[in-house]
Amino acid sequence: MNILILGSGGREHTIAWKLAQSTECENLYVAPGNSGTTQIAENLNIKVTDFEAIKDATLSKEIDMVVVGPEDPLVQGVHDFFINDKSLQHVAVIGPQKAAAQLEGSKEFAKEFMMRHNIPTAAYQSFTSENLEEGYAFLETLNPPYVLKADGLAAGKGVLIINDIEEAKVELKNMLVDAKFGNASATVVIEEFLDGIELSCFVLTDGENYKILPTAKDYKRIGEGDTGLNTGGMGAVSPVPFADSSFMEKIEEQIVKPTVKGLKEDNLPYKGFIFIGLIKVGDQPKVIEYNVRLGDPETEVVLPRLKNDLGQLFKAVADESLGSINIDIDERAATTVMLVSGGYPEAYEKGKRISGTDEVENSILFHAGAQEQDGAVLTSGGRVMAVTSYGNTYQEALKKSYQSIENINFDKMYYRKDIGFDL
Ligand code: AMP
Ligand code: GLY
Repeated sequence: MNILILGSGGREHTIAWKLAQSTECENLYVAPGNSGTTQIAENLNIKVTDFEAIKDATLSKEIDMVVVGPEDPLVQGVHDFFINDKSLQHVAVIGPQKAAAQLEGSKEFAKEFMMRHNIPTAAYQSFTSENLEEGYAFLETLNPPYVLKADGLAAGKGVLIINDIEEAKVELKNMLVDAKFGNASATVVIEEFLDGIELSCFVLTDGENYKILPTAKDYKRIGEGDTGLNTGGMGAVSPVPFADSSFMEKIEEQIVKPTVKGLKEDNLPYKGFIFIGLIKVGDQPKVIEYNVRLGDPETEVVLPRLKNDLGQLFKAVADESLGSINIDIDERAATTVMLVSGGYPEAYEKGKRISGTDEVENSILFHAGAQEQDGAVLTSGGRVMAVTSYGNTYQEALKKSYQSIENINFDKMYYRKDIGFDL
């Protein structure tokens, strides 16, 4: 197959790295890609939401399969675009159609889905500017902290967790009336606060069958000890040590099965990854969110532990034969540490030369915000590179990642030195 991956982050470099090893993969393209993908695939200078340009490339490069990395094109209906165009109908798309992508595109839709299918999650109500007063009243019935979520996509910034009731009311008004997150906060979901430790469960489904991939834990805050602003993710560990087999059985029975069955019942075609964000409350897993794609940097530890041929898995997703495949997972732990530009997630400089990557021997480097220019690799984003390692334990893997990082340098490079600190 000729395969086109949409996206340009560490997640997409990892997917490309894995597909490049597939016996199913002939020619591999990434749009737009980065300095990592250009070493193993051909980068195409196309935006992930420019469907017409994606169509042109699909036809001219004779693409057989499109693998969608980020959520935006899915929520905007890239899969539907392929189904509805006669010249593209033969192309397999990995990623759900628009209707099901609402699981990530609308928090309210996701909550209603969970309620309908009896999937454990935080109690909630949703509000618009029309019933702001009722929103205030609902806040009064809850205990702090208060969880306010913009309904729509807000680049990972749409969730506020606030201790003070008056401040929560002000923010609710900011979101609903003053469009704090633009149109994304025209509806706000107010949720019960769940107190526990977070983890992520990744599922691949063809709409009928599903396979559970390794669990991972992501470190979202910029500062050590989980402090400071939220980022896209500063590091990840797989497997999650506290997700033992009895806990995983609960996740499968109470969450994964009803999710896949619910999608079918609701007539929401789904071929792709489901990323289930969970909190362990006591011994009970509860869903905090669905994403309709893989996580970043979780992918950088999940796919390296997958022994299966990813091209074969995707093919089975496309022809709905995933049930006949056995998933084979590497027993070793994998960890990744994200190198970021100084200042991220606020303003940061780009165009810094990255050195020392050639000296790294015991880790895999997945490029994220990095681009090749005249033979040099320069920073081009906030999250620059993920340093992934294997180990018999996650501690051993982390040690390797941190040792590898000592070789790498760019101006104002920053990373968290405490990934895994809470395990
Ligand atoms: P989300 O975008 O829904 O994943 O929310 C972002 C982050 O907010 C999550 O990763 C959690 O750390 C936190 N969060 C979201 N919902 C809740 C909740 N109901 N209780 C506690 N923390 C939450
Ligand atoms: N690392 C979190 C995400 O990809 O949404």
